[in-house]
Amino acid sequence: MSDQFSVLFVCLGNICRSPVAEGVFRHQVEEAGLTGAFTIDSAGTGAWHVGQSPDSRMTKSAASQGVDISKQHARQFVEEDLERFDLILAMDKSNLHDILYLDKEDTFGHKVKLFREWDPEPGDFQVPDPYYGGDEGFRNVFTMVERTSQALLGSLKAHYGV
Ligand code: 4NP
Repeated sequence: MSDQFSVLFVCLGNICRSPVAEGVFRHQVEEAGLTGAFTIDSAGTGAWHVGQSPDSRMTKSAASQGVDISKQHARQFVEEDLERFDLILAMDKSNLHDILYLDKEDTFGHKVKLFREWDPEPGDFQVPDPYYGGDEGFRNVFTMVERTSQALLGSLKAHYGV
């Protein structure tokens, strides 16, 4: 048993939104000197991109802000993740629905949340899928992920004693 607090970020493909959320959160955790306190991972509800590196547009956008996500590889969310992680953060409502669909016995719903519930700015609680859009969409995703992740870390420190 590990006493680390484990966080899993989940989107559809695990090549845009959840990799950048994983990378940004990891970066902020490192900057806070809390690396040993967390297990951090990401996954996609879909299998199309399994094994692939993050989308080069997301990697570029993150790199321009000092966050390296280039070494990540996509994997699919699996039922066991429901048990394994303390907090499972969906990027949008469709991801949330797909994750909860795997929770057949309705056991783990309490630890599955929309990531942007922690966003201090008003919005629809979702990180929009940038895949079919232009560079601005990727910059927008980075900005909202960075802001939300910082608030998430603050909240975890305050409420969970991490
Ligand atoms: P992500 O973006 O869920 O943020 O990784 C997407 C990546 C790929 C696809 C959709 C969304 N796709 O349809 O292939």
